[in-house]
Amino acid sequence: MPKVSKVQRLVVVGLLAAVCLGAAETAPQEERARQLGANAAFELQRVLKSELTSAIQAGGPGQAIRVCAQKALLLTQGIPRLMDVPSMTVKRTSLRWRNEMNRPDAMEAKVLHEMEARAQAQEPLEAVLRLHNKTYHYFEPIRTTGLCLTCHGLEEKMPENVRQALDTLYPGDRARGYAAGEFRGVIHVSIPQAVVAEP
Ligand code: HEC
Repeated sequence: MPKVSKVQRLVVVGLLAAVCLGAAETAPQEERARQLGANAAFELQRVLKSELTSAIQAGGPGQAIRVCAQKALLLTQGIPRLMDVPSMTVKRTSLRWRNEMNRPDAMEAKVLHEMEARAQAQEPLEAVLRLHNKTYHYFEPIRTTGLCLTCHGLEEKMPENVRQALDTLYPGDRARGYAAGEFRGVIHVSIPQAVVAEP
């Protein structure tokens, strides 16, 4: 047997690993998926925030609730078209959902539980990317800020008309009682692998 140096052996193992894991190929693809997910999440937050701010200015938080209730889901579902990537999907979800339509599925619940555990342990929250059935799933964690508490904070501190509107619209509401800076949920962006594949 020819003598093979330790370095040569390491190089061969490294090359094999790169080929087998497809490292050279998947890294940029994953990077693109991550970038697209982050852009979509950013865009959604921008759109929702501007809609929320103008609704509060126009008619106060009681009015803004109705705007949220009627528009938040449509605006969320409209992001892929707005970004010209119609095969992508965008959803907001939480372990403590308000709108039944935002209830987490099994994969979302798993990621949400993992993030919740990190938040409980005071660890920083980072976006998560998973590849499943030829689709990239990007999850961006959302935390509450002071602005959110009018509608997601302690019940006794909510304006009366907000509480009443929530009681009427969401009888099973779980999204109250938050403090500022708490983990609230995720923006889940699904991106078919073909969208970010090599051109
Ligand atoms: C004017 C009241 C109001 C404010 C302020 C508000 N929300 Fe909401 N939020 C709602 C309503 C109503 C829904 C349910 C609407 C929907 O998504 O269909 C909702 C839904 C959500 C959801 C989707 C999951 C679920 O529970 O259904 C998330 C996540 C969320 N809000 C986070 C936030 C964050 C973060 C802030 C602050 C930046 C915020 N909200 C501020 C009223 C509000």
